[in-house]
Amino acid sequence: MIRPDEFTRRRARLLSETGPGSIVVVASAREVLRNGDSCYPFRQDSDFWYLTGFDEPEAVLVLVPGRESGEQILFLRESDPERERWDGPRLGLAGAIEQLGMEDAFPVHDLDDILPGLMEGCERLYHLVGKDPAFDQRVLGWRNRLRARSKGQKGPGEIVSLEHLLHEQRLIKSSEEVRCMRRAAGVAAQAMTRAMRTCRPGMNEGEIQAELIHEYQRQGCPPSYLPIVAGGANALILHYIANNQPLPDEGLLLIDAGCEYHNYAADISRTFPVAGRFSPAQRDVYEIVLASQHAAIDEVRSGRPFQAYHEAAVRVLVQGLIDLKLLAGSVDDNIEQERFRRFYMHKTGHWLGLDVHDVGDYRIEGQSRLLERNMVVTVEPGLYIGADDDIPEALRNIGIRVEDDIRVTQGDPENLTRAVPSAADAIEELMRG
Ligand code: GLY
Ligand code: MN
Ligand code: MN
Repeated sequence: MIRPDEFTRRRARLLSETGPGSIVVVASAREVLRNGDSCYPFRQDSDFWYLTGFDEPEAVLVLVPGRESGEQILFLRESDPERERWDGPRLGLAGAIEQLGMEDAFPVHDLDDILPGLMEGCERLYHLVGKDPAFDQRVLGWRNRLRARSKGQKGPGEIVSLEHLLHEQRLIKSSEEVRCMRRAAGVAAQAMTRAMRTCRPGMNEGEIQAELIHEYQRQGCPPSYLPIVAGGANALILHYIANNQPLPDEGLLLIDAGCEYHNYAADISRTFPVAGRFSPAQRDVYEIVLASQHAAIDEVRSGRPFQAYHEAAVRVLVQGLIDLKLLAGSVDDNIEQERFRRFYMHKTGHWLGLDVHDVGDYRIEGQSRLLERNMVVTVEPGLYIGADDDIPEALRNIGIRVEDDIRVTQGDPENLTRAVPSAADAIEELMRG
């Protein structure tokens, strides 16, 4: 759990980076109506959460460097016993100051009246341009009215996207963030292990999904994305989320699922035989994917380019595809011509943090960015072999992905999700038990 003073330090750092003459505006997520009076599950906006640790909708954070009556301001819903009876407790204005460490707080319904005044002496307005078009319009409206009233004398002349400054901060995890990610990873690993233990022929994908969700929720960690529970050929659909088909007795089950702790995500994939024993062909393909993942994880080191672990994974996968006679020719030619893309069509990983596909630039001035300590990435190679006529029978409809969450350290990579077995023998042993 991250303490309020860490959130305060994050805001202070941003204030010092945007500097005098600036104003920063960041909105919470909205509640989205599904129909009638029921909403989709509320999940706080990651940028807003990163700066506040505040989990309510209808709130706006405003930072004004040098403002005498307080630089860190939160607009939020006021306490309202009548509404709270229906929707649950609200923090209220006093709570924003006492519990979140804000220096000033106002009712959110006064935003239109107060915000233009806060902008008056500012030259630059920072906000997350393009994230929420309706909020973009409001921000522009406040600024344009102020500029019109003052004949261009007052209010920010320049609008700057906050993305770069904020997302660079989010990319490197603090020790408290790493602790949260270890916890999410640990619970996600337990759920995956439970799915392996439970799985047997005759079950449906939905039953396995229920095991995962039960374990997440039991431990207070909601899912970090819609799980993929894909039996047999369904594993060839990369974003399969229907999760409602019977499991194939002889086939594999690919699960890609994770949960989040204090909004920090885990993201794990494992592939295992429904009946607990790999066929020889399944095992051959599995060993290639696992070897490629090990080679890739070994590249997740401080100072190596982000791209290096993808390249390492591809090299092992291509050699494996040649050994399986699914590709002909040399490793280098197949890589150059990208012929492996028929069987491996995605990248080997992404940043991981408050978002599953977390924020931060992958390239700097056209070059793959160098990894730094306390960046966290996923490493998730796979092979997806369809049922075309030229594919040998035993290899048809095999889709395999193995994914772990890896922290860059000063030394060897830290595998946050290592608690769930990935070696073929270890999976078989666990499923026998
Ligand atoms: N679960 C999404 C991904 O693996 O990238
Ligand atoms: Mn995944
Ligand atoms: Mn992933």
